Amino acid sequence: MILSGSASQSLAAALADELDEPLASVAYRKFPDGELLASAPGFQDDRAVIVASTVSSDAHVELLQLQDAAREWGAEEVVTVLPYMGYARQDRPLAPGKADEGPTPGYPISARAVARAVSTGTDRVLTVNPHEDAVCDFFDVPAEPVDAAGRLAEPLPGELVDPVFLSPDDGALDIAETVRDAYGTGTTDYFEKTRLSDTEVEMRPSDTDVAGRDVVVTDDIIATGSTMSEAVSLLGERDVGDVYVTCVHPVLASNARTKLARAGVEAVYGTDTVEGAVSAVSVAPTVADAL
Ligand code: R5P
Repeated sequence: MILSGSASQSLAAALADELDEPLASVAYRKFPDGELLASAPGFQDDRAVIVASTVSSDAHVELLQLQDAAREWGAEEVVTVLPYMGYARQDRPLAPGKADEGPTPGYPISARAVARAVSTGTDRVLTVNPHEDAVCDFFDVPAEPVDAAGRLAEPLPGELVDPVFLSPDDGALDIAETVRDAYGTGTTDYFEKTRLSDTEVEMRPSDTDVAGRDVVVTDDIIATGSTMSEAVSLLGERDVGDVYVTCVHPVLASNARTKLARAGVEAVYGTDTVEGAVSAVSVAPTVADAL
């Protein structure tokens, strides 16, 4: 039986269809003191697949509650699907000014902390395009990344002009390559990026000649939109054709949508790992294959 966290209801339903498995009825309640209660009163199965993007601290708590409920009420196997794993980018101790250094006294590795908590209630974890696949090593149970980036080619127009697939930094080049391969034609390249603060980045354009070519900028995540809007602004200075923006996880925090619009982005395509207005494509078939 599939159980859904409150932030992943559409994806859980799509996954239930894909797998032809029943979808549990889950209730989400909030008490006056702010505490949550996620429950699945009709749950009855020996296997539970819990689909929950941990987009907030509340979503983390819901997930732990659903794991506990499933285990207590008959599931011999609990599989946890984290379509979007919150805190995954905090895979190092993020001490101010020391982000690239090793262990820093007194600072947690937040991705490890949440992975350990999630591991206590499950037998297996799948997570879609984590920022780094190595985050899976933080779980105490078998955990594997699922690559759904290829699905980002689906909403793109079929007749892109001499397309170039660009990533905003070298770390996301593999995603650009996957989208290009799924699209079927085009070249790839990446920008050089330096992060100045939580909301500011500095970028150097790629060497590729983009004049007259359609450009697809693709990344694992758009969070504050700083990275993507800076990349698109640089392209605006270079006589490009149409520019398409795609990402696996459209978190779009705070004023990200405005930043992107001001940079000249007309359309953003993301997946349903973070459900919202730009979730143009579902990762359900890819997750179903991995299950
Ligand atoms: C960083 O390495 C990631 O791939 C993304 O580029 C980054 O996390 C996006 O964050 P933001 O939208 O806040 O710039």
